[in-house]
Amino acid sequence: MLIKTPRGWEIPERRATPEDVFLNRRAFLQTLGIAGMSTLGVFAGCESSGAKEAPLIRGLPEPSATADLYPAQRNEQFTLDRALTAEADAANYNNFYEFSSRKELVVRLVEGWQTRPWQVEVAGLVHKPQTFDIDDLVRKMPLEERLYRHRCVEAWSMSVPWTGFPIKALVDLVQPLASARYLRMITFHDPQAAPGLRNDTYPWPYHEGLSMAEATHELALFVTGIYGHELTKQHGAPIRLVAPWKYGYKSIKSIVRLEFVAEQPKTFWNTLIPWEYDFVANVNPAVPHPRWSQASERILGTREIKATLPYNGYGEFVTSLYKT
Ligand code: MTE
Repeated sequence: MLIKTPRGWEIPERRATPEDVFLNRRAFLQTLGIAGMSTLGVFAGCESSGAKEAPLIRGLPEPSATADLYPAQRNEQFTLDRALTAEADAANYNNFYEFSSRKELVVRLVEGWQTRPWQVEVAGLVHKPQTFDIDDLVRKMPLEERLYRHRCVEAWSMSVPWTGFPIKALVDLVQPLASARYLRMITFHDPQAAPGLRNDTYPWPYHEGLSMAEATHELALFVTGIYGHELTKQHGAPIRLVAPWKYGYKSIKSIVRLEFVAEQPKTFWNTLIPWEYDFVANVNPAVPHPRWSQASERILGTREIKATLPYNGYGEFVTSLYKT
């Protein structure tokens, strides 16, 4: 018989205070049978304010051909040691340099950007190279919701319900060759749609990478939804990486190409400022960034400061990846 010992971060869900508010909204939407419909934007709201009238969530794309898949079943294995961040706080404070380096502006600048149709190309050292229409891909994948902490190297953090699928499910589908040691990921590049891309001091398109062991780790997700609905544009619609034990800059948004490669790929921030951003980017409170101490973090939407945990609290899970 398999006896499951709860890991340090798998603490009782009742401690994630505003989540009951969130669950009530999900139940409410499901009762009405409107989850995933075009009206969702009108109903989707701030989870923790206690406000009677939920504000409109900005940045939702037009409902796609897979909108009916949200909210997805929550995987109860992943719980939080803190409250969920209010959706409005997460939705209005974004790093998405393709649009702006000013976090508060991103939500406005993504307004007219179209994230459908969208294709994701899989190439490189792989048995089944192919190009997926995003909705065909999403329908093939096992979608689930997970509550994860997210830690930015700028020392702020949030906790959000992502919906996505383990990268491993896609890896199993396309079958990389044994010689593939890294997964390289690349963001869209359309300077007409995204004004930040006209600033050519950055090494566009945004690009990132994971070792194959990291990419196929059970915590590593390709995310297509947030707060029980499709992923909003400012969070990287229609598909982004989420690797919760790493600083947020690894979690590349709006991916258009995946390449299986033999050598460690270059990455956006490491190319730009190599002395500030390394490839691995694991959360480590003991190693300060030249501009931000990493010892503690500011919790978005609150006045709370918490001590940062190694690997963002996911150490028991991922430490074995880095044993030499
Ligand atoms: N991906 C792309 N393509 N462009 C970006 O500017 N910023 C990164 C990451 N992914 C970024 C990106 C950084 S620095 C962080 S902290 C997270 O996205 C922020 O994700 P969020 O806006 O959903 O909180």
